Amino acid sequence: MHSREVVVLRDVWFKYLPEQDYVLRSINIVVHEAELVAIVGPNGSGKTTLAKIIMGLARPSKGTVRLFGRDIKEWSWNELAKLIGYVPQNPKHIFCNVTVRDELKSTLESLGMKTSDEDIAKLLEEVGLEEYLDKNPFKLSWGEQKRLAIAIAIARNPKLLIVDEPTIGLDYCCKEKIASILNSLKSSIGSVIVITHDMDFLTLLDVDRIYLIYAGQVVLSGRPEDVMYRPSEVLEKYGLVKPQIIEVVEKVNAAIGLKGRPFRFEDVARYLRYVLELHKSKLSV
Ligand SMILES: Nc1ncnc2c1ncn2[C@@H]1O[C@H](COP(=O)(O)OP(=O)(O)O)[C@@H](O)[C@H]1O
Ligand SMILES: [Mg+2]
Repeated sequence: MHSREVVVLRDVWFKYLPEQDYVLRSINIVVHEAELVAIVGPNGSGKTTLAKIIMGLARPSKGTVRLFGRDIKEWSWNELAKLIGYVPQNPKHIFCNVTVRDELKSTLESLGMKTSDEDIAKLLEEVGLEEYLDKNPFKLSWGEQKRLAIAIAIARNPKLLIVDEPTIGLDYCCKEKIASILNSLKSSIGSVIVITHDMDFLTLLDVDRIYLIYAGQVVLSGRPEDVMYRPSEVLEKYGLVKPQIIEVVEKVNAAIGLKGRPFRFEDVARYLRYVLELHKSKLSV
């Protein structure tokens, strides 16, 4: 049985301008409490627009959005701002102070929340930036800016976190750091939506469900292994490249006649070690 529904989109259609084509078409999405849901798809497929709909920044042309069991229209702006933390694609867009401390302080104050040095230190610890209290946000590295943007988003103690394309321009090591932060936020915050088209990053996340969006429609959805073990041609048709480690597993499975479908990087590593052991023992018999 599933836990509480945090986000429910039912038959949501959206267009920015009356004369424009629909940018989102009959979208049905559910996010439960304690889930990390990934929204994946190529550029221009409608992922950020979907985030705007969930945050109440854009109203569906048709269909309904429910948040925490209530129609989104029943939530005030102030309630929505506290309920949902959003990390935009470009963190620079949200910085407006000369120190990391002030950035977090002003975020909390703008929401009418009291803050202490301990609160700020704790937030920075969650994203591994505890040494950066007096640094200028604009002078942080790109990866550090992304992590500061996460700290700003979680400062309000949201019940839902939406992270938009967190890995653009980051090397693998920075991606691993972001993935580990998001995995731990999944349990502390409640629900996390990660928007990405970085397939290798996806395999670092503790993903419960994937929605693949293409040209404004959900074309595939399900558990990560059900989506990512589809034939490469199917994923490519929708502008996605299969994660490399999954290609490796498929080749190994085909060679040895196994059927395991691990998804997360660490599960793949464990699986391949197991297969190697199995193979060794077969050889030694
Ligand atoms: N403010 C806007 N006005 C009109 N069209 C827009 C606007 N923002 C995005 N679009 C269009 O909506 C479509 C989906 O964009 P977007 O949601 O940003 O996709 P993604 O985040 O998947 O790259 C694109 O065709 C884009 O050009
Ligand atoms: Mg986008």
